[in-house]
Amino acid sequence: MRVAFVGKGGAGKSSLAGTFARVLAGTGERVLVLDSDPMPGVAFSLGVPRTDAGLPDEAVEADEDGDGRRRYRLRAGLTGTGAVERYAIRGPDGVHLLQLGKARGPRWNNTAQHHGFQRVIDDLPGDGWSVVGDLPGGTRQPFLTWGRYAETFLVVVEPTPASLLTGRRLARLASARGSPRVAVVANKVLHPEDAKQVAERTGLELAGVVPFDPGVETADRLGKAVLDHDPLGPTATAVRSLVDALRSEREPA
Ligand SMILES: Nc1ncnc2c1ncn2[C@@H]1O[C@H](COP(=O)(O)OP(=O)(O)OP(=O)(O)O)[C@@H](O)[C@H]1O
Ligand SMILES: [Mg+2]
Repeated sequence: MRVAFVGKGGAGKSSLAGTFARVLAGTGERVLVLDSDPMPGVAFSLGVPRTDAGLPDEAVEADEDGDGRRRYRLRAGLTGTGAVERYAIRGPDGVHLLQLGKARGPRWNNTAQHHGFQRVIDDLPGDGWSVVGDLPGGTRQPFLTWGRYAETFLVVVEPTPASLLTGRRLARLASARGSPRVAVVANKVLHPEDAKQVAERTGLELAGVVPFDPGVETADRLGKAVLDHDPLGPTATAVRSLVDALRSEREPA
């Protein structure tokens, strides 16, 4: 399966994507996590040592086209699969993590890393790999560039007016783009009414419901994965249900 988590800033994309990826890997699938957020995030929820590095310089080649513009591509002979096998960070439960080079400051030039990351996205490993993406908050990139590998977009929505509105707009953008499926995950839910409201106000199919869970915040403060901090807690349990639901859809009747 190829899923990408999108939604308003702070809705819980990284917390859920990291947990989702590890749970999926725990079922025996080979999982590649794609972190397209230039700011730190999913490494923590995966429990992978944090690094700012994207693809190394050696992975990307540049040349100039006729107009003098620089063009970037993966080094000759390096495929997307090769880049994943060679450069992805190995995490718990066998997950592989490939990330956009993180923003470091005004002098930090990561143009080549960013282009290389996009080239990998356009040439991802096929059969035998599942992909879980953590996209930055916002509206444009998910559907146009960084998330175009996704077969399913999971919009993470909190029961707050701003998050609901963002979810609804993302749903519209996704449908304008066409093909992929878009579903909503209600996060930080306190009452059953919250989940109902999230489904109704976004107009999206409700794929999962994750309760408000102080354990997520505690894990964040400790810099730990929720799955390591509280493996049987409410978030881990809800994400297991989400993974089960998406996996069972794929199985032939
Ligand atoms: N189910 C939950 N219950 C309680 N708190 C949660 C839950 N999910 C996420 N949080 C908290 O919400 C905050 C934002 O979570 P997270 O970083 O995963 O969101 P994000 O959507 O990835 O944010 P960003 O847009 O900044 O990347 C964190 O403080 C996290 O602990
Ligand atoms: Mg995040």
